[in-house]
Amino acid sequence: MAKLLIRGGTPLKGTVEISGSKNSALPIIVAACLAEGESVLENIPRDIDVYTICRILQELGAEIWFDEAGRLHVVPDGLQNYQASYDLVRRMRASFYVAGLLLARLGKAEVPLPGGCALGSRPVDFHLKGFQALGAKISIEHGYVKAEADELVGNKIYINRSSVGTTINLMLAASRAKGTTVLENAAKEPEVVDLAIYLSSMGARIRGAGTDVIRIDGVERLRGTEYVIISDRIEAGTFMVACGITGGELVLTNVVPEHLRSSIMKCEEAGMEIEEDINSIHVRAQGRPVAVDLETAPYPGFPTDLQQPFAAMMSIADGTSIIRETIFDRFRYVDELRRMGADIKVERDTAIIRGVSELTGAQVEATDLRAGAALVLAALAAKGETEISGIELVDRGYEQLDAKLRQLGADVERIDDESNVFEEFLTRPLLRRI
Ligand code: UD1
Repeated sequence: MAKLLIRGGTPLKGTVEISGSKNSALPIIVAACLAEGESVLENIPRDIDVYTICRILQELGAEIWFDEAGRLHVVPDGLQNYQASYDLVRRMRASFYVAGLLLARLGKAEVPLPGGCALGSRPVDFHLKGFQALGAKISIEHGYVKAEADELVGNKIYINRSSVGTTINLMLAASRAKGTTVLENAAKEPEVVDLAIYLSSMGARIRGAGTDVIRIDGVERLRGTEYVIISDRIEAGTFMVACGITGGELVLTNVVPEHLRSSIMKCEEAGMEIEEDINSIHVRAQGRPVAVDLETAPYPGFPTDLQQPFAAMMSIADGTSIIRETIFDRFRYVDELRRMGADIKVERDTAIIRGVSELTGAQVEATDLRAGAALVLAALAAKGETEISGIELVDRGYEQLDAKLRQLGADVERIDDESNVFEEFLTRPLLRRI
């Protein structure tokens, strides 16, 4: 396993460039495969989840590569294979987007039920119900979802719980269906809007993205195009909290401040000073954070993906904070934070965090992507050395997190071992055109 050794106590200082959004990149790379001809995508982060989706699509027959300027080229014309491989799909829940792609493009899909972070049960039943409403026949055999449709036909679909993944998968499938699809209670996340803008630039007819009703008039053909994806609001939020927990001063560039509204408000409540510019923000923190209560919610509410990093900051806050998690079962990291001296009690979906004056370094393990980020932040503030194992989970969604932190003055050392064989396997074919 890859590890980070972090010696805490240095306030972070300097400027950090935020990468492109992982959660936008994944569906947009898949959407590029709905088209005829090449798409060139900019601001794509080089994290492991992105490499994984590229690898899955390559195995299905698409040509994908990064050029020397860091732009991702996607040429989907050879995509003929409708069976996605278990080995790659099981690593990431978002790989299930290829089901929507394959149904729309080939009328047939065989995709393993996906894996993902250890966040409790994360079913894909809403996705399957949606595909059925569009006319697909669905069965689950030997761990694979098998879907087939001679023709997808638009329909009115109510999505339970405003699921991001379901909204995206159904937008992918419906963009080339016959007739009109109306998605009700659709997710309003910026990544859904980014996908809608990209699909529209390829010739799709989509209205209402960013509201809870999205209307898609299916078209016969989409054409490849050039597109710059949005920057990662979760990575930006993670650096804001890293600044808060270490009492530092940072400038974050390549951000969309509007996407960070709820996170900025909560950081300000915690005592941080934040100034916004058009695509950068200046963050300042001094002394211990102030305890803040919060509840996660779909966008524009406070993102569940920042719940764990924020809780790490609250573990050294002045006072008691109450954090309620409404989206996923996401408190497994609490045991690890306790090993560092945090005082946290969990009752069902709520964590009660009594701020302590300091955390102390310990050996801990990342249990999922954002839990790993929370431990990194806690370690940056802790007294002494923290050894965090399971860092490959953090690599799934952060591009060069350790290098960026070092550049801001943090004392972070990375220790890699054979786990990176997988990373090498994923990245090698993407460095040149195959
Ligand atoms: C996406 C994000 C993830 C974020 C989450 C919530 C990506 C790649 N991942 O995940 O980072 O934390 O949104 O903002 O963009 N559900 C079902 N059945 C389904 C689908 C969802 O019960 O078929 C439930 C989930 O278990 C969860 C809730 O609906 O409780 C919302 O999940 P969803 O919005 O779909 O999350 P993801 O798209 O998986």
